[in-house]
Amino acid sequence: MKIAVLPGDGIGTEIVAQAMKVLEALRSDGVKIETEHGYIGGAGYDHAGDPYPEATAKLAQEADAVLLGAVGGYQYDTLPRAMRPEQGLLRIRKGLELFANLRPALLYPELASASTLKPEVVAGLDIMILRELTGDIYFGQPRGIRTLDNGERQGFDTMHYSESEIRRVAHVGFQIAMKRNKKMCSVDKANVLDTSMFWREIVTEVAKEYPQVELSHMYVDNAAMQLVRAPKQFDVILTGNIFGDILSDEASMLTGSIGMLPSASLDKNNKGMYEPSHGSAPDIAGKDIANPLATILSAAMMLRYTFNDETNAARIENAVKKALAQGYRTGDIYTEGTTKVGCNAMGDAVVAAL
Ligand code: IPM
Ligand code: MG
Repeated sequence: MKIAVLPGDGIGTEIVAQAMKVLEALRSDGVKIETEHGYIGGAGYDHAGDPYPEATAKLAQEADAVLLGAVGGYQYDTLPRAMRPEQGLLRIRKGLELFANLRPALLYPELASASTLKPEVVAGLDIMILRELTGDIYFGQPRGIRTLDNGERQGFDTMHYSESEIRRVAHVGFQIAMKRNKKMCSVDKANVLDTSMFWREIVTEVAKEYPQVELSHMYVDNAAMQLVRAPKQFDVILTGNIFGDILSDEASMLTGSIGMLPSASLDKNNKGMYEPSHGSAPDIAGKDIANPLATILSAAMMLRYTFNDETNAARIENAVKKALAQGYRTGDIYTEGTTKVGCNAMGDAVVAAL
């Protein structure tokens, strides 16, 4: 298993170090893991003048999987857009054609009281958000800031989805639904956007190949509302890049903390990039208080989806559950009566449980 490790910025280095400890533990058990580190985001800019340096692109291309921390930091906020850390992330997604972004929102029973929603609303929650990741308004051209004939300046972006882009991600969605509760809700804004009308048409067509899956459609504004009203109505949510960006942040908070949510971004051969759903949290970087569990759980997803190693994926997930059951909590999921620990100690607790 050849893994490119890209810690990135902010808390990225701390949380990836914890996931590395877990991988090291597996390695000492005989799992054949090879890792190599690279720079991305602000770290790429600092070391090579580019948020996605050539050397990192090569490393990522040659690896079977990428483990990523997070990118971004205040010191980069004033750089021109092409040099900003987020561009590193968008370019690696696009460059590796990682079009299928899986963001599970799973509530660990121990954390029901850490959610801002009532425990009965979120107890047993298990949603899989499938976000299309390489199309939509994120990448559509033209875009920019222009001056109109009347002299007024205007910012503009372009939203579009081609049929093949919708088809391939819809297939992934239906296949995931087949392995779960066979329900898929496709989220769009078909009452306003042509792109969404087309999205709905194609998803409905693809659905004919999966008659066992119950497909529904929902407008994104309603979906945002339903996610906090009655989130357990959802099994798989299939949606485009921008709606998925927003809804996955919302869904993550149902589980108590965005610090708990892993993600997988897959290409058509299940090569993948694995990263926590959260960002680089520069405000708490270097303080040893970040929650490393989303990154550790991302490593579990890597074993499952890219390396087909369900045994060790489940081992990691069970170790996380055990550490939680033992009462260990980072600040973001701390509740009275539990044991508050730092990022490092949480990593150690998971390794010990493993
Ligand atoms: C995410 C992030 C990224 C996105 C940013 C950092 C570019 O919010 O992974 O959800 O918008 O996709
Ligand atoms: Mg986001």
